[in-house]
Amino acid sequence: MDTEVTVLDALAIDGGPPVRTTPLPWELPGAHYIGAEERELIDAVVDAQSPFRFYGFDLQATVTRLENEWCERFGHRFALGVSSGTAALTIAVSALELGPGDEVLVPGYLWVSCVSAVVSAGAIPRLVDIDDTFTIDPADLENKITSRTRAVLCVHMSGAPGRIDRVADICAAHDIALIEDCAQCAGGSFNDRAVGRFGDIGIFSFQLNKNMTSGEGGLLVTDDEALYRRIVALHDLGYPRNPEGRLDTADPSYQLWGKGARMSELAGAMALAQMRKLPKITGAMRKAKWRIREAIEGCAAFTMRSIIDPAGDTGPFLITTWPSAEAASYAVEALNAEGIRGPEGSLTCVRMRDFGLHWYFNISSLTEKRSNSRDGFPWTHPANDFAAAFDYGHGALARADELHARSAILSIASILGDEDVADIVMAFKKVARGVELRFGV
Ligand SMILES: Cc1ncc(COP(=O)(O)O)c(C=O)c1O
Repeated sequence: MDTEVTVLDALAIDGGPPVRTTPLPWELPGAHYIGAEERELIDAVVDAQSPFRFYGFDLQATVTRLENEWCERFGHRFALGVSSGTAALTIAVSALELGPGDEVLVPGYLWVSCVSAVVSAGAIPRLVDIDDTFTIDPADLENKITSRTRAVLCVHMSGAPGRIDRVADICAAHDIALIEDCAQCAGGSFNDRAVGRFGDIGIFSFQLNKNMTSGEGGLLVTDDEALYRRIVALHDLGYPRNPEGRLDTADPSYQLWGKGARMSELAGAMALAQMRKLPKITGAMRKAKWRIREAIEGCAAFTMRSIIDPAGDTGPFLITTWPSAEAASYAVEALNAEGIRGPEGSLTCVRMRDFGLHWYFNISSLTEKRSNSRDGFPWTHPANDFAAAFDYGHGALARADELHARSAILSIASILGDEDVADIVMAFKKVARGVELRFGV
């Protein structure tokens, strides 16, 4: 920080001195930690010339080790490595046998992959509002359940679960399946229970933006053996494998249509090394984020996202909500001017309005009910007639719409130093004061 800058100085946006001039570090939590451990495991796979998990010259079993260690660490019964989080979602939906005539409840703040998994299976997404946790609102969830509802896809957005205990209770009471999308929350928990253990199936992503990364990759978890066996067949070519790693077509209960989403041993090597670093990565983000939260708590100009169990927060994002859409835009511009921004190309400090396909009404393939096939499937499927009048445009979810308009999101890099944290705190205090004066909060 330029030491002379105080909260009473003019805002940088008005020509005052900025809090800092160097960019904050990139988000991409796991990427900052890629190093010798990843290289060592990858080298072993390359040296063994065995990058395929099911057979080869000298299997290093990196994917199997990842799955086993994941279960040991987080308490799941079964885990399966796959090629991406999107593939994992698609597999989860098919594992639960969802399709035409079925409704899957999804929150308004999510990721495009959540909707695409439901629609590609032929099922119909039904929108549920979010609450102050920025995840599915249990009260609206209960209101939205119909006789068609077969599953809920609960998304632990921006690093932390919401009221997942209540969501799980509602699903159990109504005999509805629960899929937990933990793509943005690897290493997270709620009341000491790991995410992914509240639902029938949990999914994770190891894409570059996630808490740990293998570049591309994902994982499914479940405690149900029959579901696990379906998941195994689905992620591959529709059939299980025998102990030699060859396809086994004999069992009629697992003769399905595969998604071709196996994890390679190279991705497994990366993910295994990263998983072992996950407590360090999420620990760093959580610590920095809660230092910031505690220091700026009480500013009248904004509120912060509710986190029910801070110990289970993985920490990659700080979400603030301002008095109006205009105030939120001004605050983000002012924070950027104070130097709260990342390197060119990063999304370090932005308005939620600039957060793209995370918001239901920005997903034009949903609002326009697009199809991958010429006949308009699944929107035109007779079993989906009940959804003909469903409207996914802006205005469908009151709370999501207004939180979207008035909120800002700051990425908490996994390598923030003390000075970075102090600068972020100072900038928020300065800008909060500016917003109070300008908007009469
Ligand atoms: C909530 C959520 N679900 C699913 C995915 C899909 O993961 P992937 O990019 O690995 O396909 C992502 C991230 O991209 C995500 O943020």
